Amino acid sequence: MSLLRTKSIEASIADSEASEFQLKKNLSALDLTVFGIGVIIGAGIFTVTGRAAHTMAGPAIVISFLIGAFCCGLAALCYAELSSAVPVSGSAYTFSYATMGELIAWIVGWDLLLELILAAGVVAQGWSAYFNILFGEWGLKLPDNLQGGTGWFTHFDIAAFGLVAVLTCVIATGIKESMRVNLTLVAVKLFIVLFIIVMGIQYINTSNYTPFVPPAQHLESTSDTLKRPLWELMTGMEPQAFGVMGVISGAALVFFAYIGFDVVATTAEETRNPKRDLPIGIIGSLAICTILYVSVCLVITGMVSYDKIDPKGALAAAFRDHGHPGYAQIIAAGAVAGLATVVMTLMIGATRVMYAMSRDGLLPMGMARTNPKTGTPVPMTLVMGFIIAVAAATIPIGEFEEMVNIGTLSAFFLVSLAVPVLRKKRPDLERPFKVPGSPVLPWVAAAVCLYLMLNLPVETWLRFVVWLLVGFAIYFFYGRGHSRVGRNPQLQGGVGDGVYATDLDTSVGDGAEALRKNERRH
Ligand code: ALA
Repeated sequence: MSLLRTKSIEASIADSEASEFQLKKNLSALDLTVFGIGVIIGAGIFTVTGRAAHTMAGPAIVISFLIGAFCCGLAALCYAELSSAVPVSGSAYTFSYATMGELIAWIVGWDLLLELILAAGVVAQGWSAYFNILFGEWGLKLPDNLQGGTGWFTHFDIAAFGLVAVLTCVIATGIKESMRVNLTLVAVKLFIVLFIIVMGIQYINTSNYTPFVPPAQHLESTSDTLKRPLWELMTGMEPQAFGVMGVISGAALVFFAYIGFDVVATTAEETRNPKRDLPIGIIGSLAICTILYVSVCLVITGMVSYDKIDPKGALAAAFRDHGHPGYAQIIAAGAVAGLATVVMTLMIGATRVMYAMSRDGLLPMGMARTNPKTGTPVPMTLVMGFIIAVAAATIPIGEFEEMVNIGTLSAFFLVSLAVPVLRKKRPDLERPFKVPGSPVLPWVAAAVCLYLMLNLPVETWLRFVVWLLVGFAIYFFYGRGHSRVGRNPQLQGGVGDGVYATDLDTSVGDGAEALRKNERRH
């Protein structure tokens, strides 16, 4: 039964107010919307779109993006309800802890770490690729073994490493400072995306939109099973590209482009008025990005016939084909600015999730200590930065983007289910934002997430299972025994509801130490 123990919402909120573990409350609704756009628009639109249009969906990539937006929109509503009711760092992890028990919460937290750490590495390498293009154009070429490569430990991607190292310092310095850097870079990124749309419209040839959904092409049945969508295998369908299933697989891939809006919820504790600002930040940033994405897709597939789209650098190549090679440099510069904000925001999200898990004792508690000057979890930020920098520099992490999607979708799936569960368990809780049509809408959200997950390749599923097994091992060998909720029944849902004061900074004013003493007593 201990696997099902929940942490009371009041306990989570009280923990966030313990002085040693407090984050600064500095962010407004506008900050959050900018933060959201900063993390959403990135490698997805700059690189994945062209590949998905060329190999999976043709001009109907627009539909793939709309399916992705539908799925994220439903999940965003669920996130908005939960984060306005439980405004505590850790986002989906914290919601699950309050509703579905410690084991599920651990899985969600573990999946979020997969999403955020891996995505930061993937986008850092994408950034490095654009950085090298840009500097290459100016005649500054790094040696091959100091650029990204396709082998493991055969190269050291110095640009990706340097980016992550610099961003780690920025994040450790303070959340408001990070936001200022973010604001400037987001402005550059938005300018480039609007530039692509405005400049591209004049080159649209509507005949490129036909056929809108290219007819399904059967692939050799000997094609690599590991690369086929799990759903295709489960239903015994013939392997195929394009057609309706191509549009769905395209949606499962371009979902990557939306990843990040959920990170807004991880900053709940740093928001001045989370109950109002979080729903605005989450839904607002998602809506703005969807409009921009759909516009870019219409421009690209209108400028170039889908079978001629360059899967590696679709945007720059489309302008080159229309006699504007100089635009490629502008786009590369925009990507360099734009992708940096994505990496930064993903890293902030990852540290905040890990921070919440450590504060609960499921990971070592010492890492959750915040620095009184900066108001940020400095040790955690440094550990995380080091891991991401080394991974981005030495392994071909870019190949793992579909793992990012599966990690995110699985967390969305569980968050959607958490909404009706929490409504049942805690009908009394104040909910400044409510998902309309619950429980049907959250169930639809969960079903759509699951369906997209099933449309990811078999190899992604296998890697995901390995990730989960590692997570279970850590939980059963460490987290379960060190869990604060396990050691202190007062923190549990149903026991402490409405009456809890945190044990984090009790008598000696040193949360971690007080807790360790408490643990030794047990
Ligand atoms: N949505 C982010 C991107 O596209 C992760 O780079």
